[in-house]
Amino acid sequence: MKVIIRKEAHEASLWAAHYIADRIREKAARTSKPFILGLCTGSTPIETYAELIRMVKDGEISFKNVISFNMDEYVGLPKSHPESYWSFMHKYLFDHIDEPAENIHILNGNAPDLEAECAAYEKAIEATGGFDLFLGGIGEDGHIAFNEPFSSLKSRTRVVTLTEDTRIVNSRFFDNDMNQVPAQALSVGVATVTDSKEVVILAFGPKKAKAIHDAVEGPVSHMCTVSALQLHEFGTIVCDEAAASGLLPESRAYFAAVEAVENR
Ligand code: GLP
Repeated sequence: MKVIIRKEAHEASLWAAHYIADRIREKAARTSKPFILGLCTGSTPIETYAELIRMVKDGEISFKNVISFNMDEYVGLPKSHPESYWSFMHKYLFDHIDEPAENIHILNGNAPDLEAECAAYEKAIEATGGFDLFLGGIGEDGHIAFNEPFSSLKSRTRVVTLTEDTRIVNSRFFDNDMNQVPAQALSVGVATVTDSKEVVILAFGPKKAKAIHDAVEGPVSHMCTVSALQLHEFGTIVCDEAAASGLLPESRAYFAAVEAVENR
């Protein structure tokens, strides 16, 4: 695992955007196969998306040959609801880039058969040959996508029940009323994410410090599902200082040394 730490979330967001752009360009230079990208929602990736949009507009990168799959979606929230992840992704990314509409995949939380929707999503991912890169955020309890504590680290796309804590945290987008936050969601599983060739996780702000400590320095545990990244060959966590504040000084020194040596 690598941990990239920047003073401010802004710098960390730019690092992530440029990293993703490099990966997309690098694949495009060696093959005509599409780049398969996993995407997340939440306030954390917004600046990364803004930089990717800028790069598309300035001709530095194209999403024409990118196929994306989003991590999760609330159950029962209309697609047109401003807080649906469908609305979020179009507002903050898809409406501003050149990714063809047919390449965009978002779970349908209003599907008549939710189990079938989840199974079809896994099949569609598999049919692409698998993710090149999965970009994720984390919840305050260390959940990746909506894989709450006690989710199997081998889980696949399925219907999940949100914890009360997550509904309280997410109620900031629902008039601060947790009862308006759907109780369930569709979510890719932990293994759906960790099957990706590469995983990049963003975490900003002091509220993520405990989760980052648990993920990086704690045991691999279903109590903090992002800790599954410890078993991944190419996992990178990108933090600001505040989110990294729970890490030991010696861990931080090592991660900084790795970066310095690799950039020499
Ligand atoms: C929700 C999403 C997660 C996201 C998390 C963090 O729980 N399902 O995928 O990582 O929120 O959101 P934020 O970035 O706003 O802190």
